[in-house]
Amino acid sequence: MAVKFPLDKFNEVQTPFYYYDIELLEDTLNNINDCTKGLPFHVHYAVKANANDRILRTINAAGLGIDCVSGGEVAAAINAGFDSKKIVFAGVGKTDREISLALDANILCFNVESIPELEAINELAQQKGKIADVAFRINPNVDAHTHKYITTGLSENKFGINLEQLPDVLKLASTLKNINVVGLHFHIGSQITILEPFKVLCDKINALQKEVNEMGFKLKIINVGGGLGVDYENPDKNPIPDFKSYFDIFKNNLILQEGQEVHFELGRAIVAQCGSLITQVTYVKKGTAKQFVITDAGMTDLIRPALYQAHHNIENITATTETTEIYDVVGPICESSDCFGENETLPTTKRGDLLALRTAGAYGEIMASRYNLRDLPTAVYSK
Ligand code: LLP
Repeated sequence: MAVKFPLDKFNEVQTPFYYYDIELLEDTLNNINDCTKGLPFHVHYAVKANANDRILRTINAAGLGIDCVSGGEVAAAINAGFDSKKIVFAGVGKTDREISLALDANILCFNVESIPELEAINELAQQKGKIADVAFRINPNVDAHTHKYITTGLSENKFGINLEQLPDVLKLASTLKNINVVGLHFHIGSQITILEPFKVLCDKINALQKEVNEMGFKLKIINVGGGLGVDYENPDKNPIPDFKSYFDIFKNNLILQEGQEVHFELGRAIVAQCGSLITQVTYVKKGTAKQFVITDAGMTDLIRPALYQAHHNIENITATTETTEIYDVVGPICESSDCFGENETLPTTKRGDLLALRTAGAYGEIMASRYNLRDLPTAVYSK
């Protein structure tokens, strides 16, 4: 199902803006629900990927839970209607204020990443006369074979608790009166396009569960994090990731104990393909060896190419010509990294044309900034 762009709607809106195909998002969510039906699987949407209220409301309507990494995200989730008992809260640097907010909201679980954090949660819970449910984020040392900026499961990361420290952490937790250990949490990285690392993760979890049980802990929640990748090069061929194969890996490899639930924190796989950044061509500039398409969107609207050398497919959605030419597509920001693509083959492009940067629903709008004092991009929805 290819994304169709409603050009008549676009005429009335100032570019650049994000366009969200809500039907595609709904199809994606239905697919997730179909694949997890009848299984003790709970999917929390990782709101860091896109906190647009309309997107959040659509995801909430499909019954998913939510994974937050800041007090702001917890507040946005509650504001969009998510049940606080479906909120998990991760992050290496939760402040006292954020912990308090989450305790007051009675969230499902804190994903705890260090001993000092555990102690802070215990203390604040005690002040409020509450018991905080926690899962420990364990660094499973699985190589996810993804970009180094988004690999998080290797032992040299700032995230999580190293495997060897877990016994001490569990021992400490059992002495803290306002802490209830409910599970373990893992996350091995993002934009993972081969499923093997998830299988390796399952094997590690199975081994670890034995150790934890031997220490006298029973775990209700095994949270395997997020990370399933999307097809940036062929968005129309693969608009919905292969959720069936992904969930099957966990179904077939994770050994679950009586009453155990598997929790997932998927971000990109849910929202990436439904979003495109729509930008207007301000100028076409001829150089000596190259020609440049200069767009009114820049790295302030979509930072992924500049930050991770990511490539988003670029389409001219208003061109009527059959001829093609080769261009560098660049933004207006005073930084040479403000480039969306080099040597892009596009239909002959002219000032005023509209371009779509595809697969931009995840880590697009939410990472926009006001650098150069530019306006933030707005949003348009298919329905
Ligand atoms: N859970 C945890 C603990 C995470 O750190 C992340 C992402 C997720 C879940 C969701 O991962 P996903 O399913 O979206 O891969 N800005 C980067 C991606 C950063 C990902 C950070 N953590 C990008 O644009 O590629």
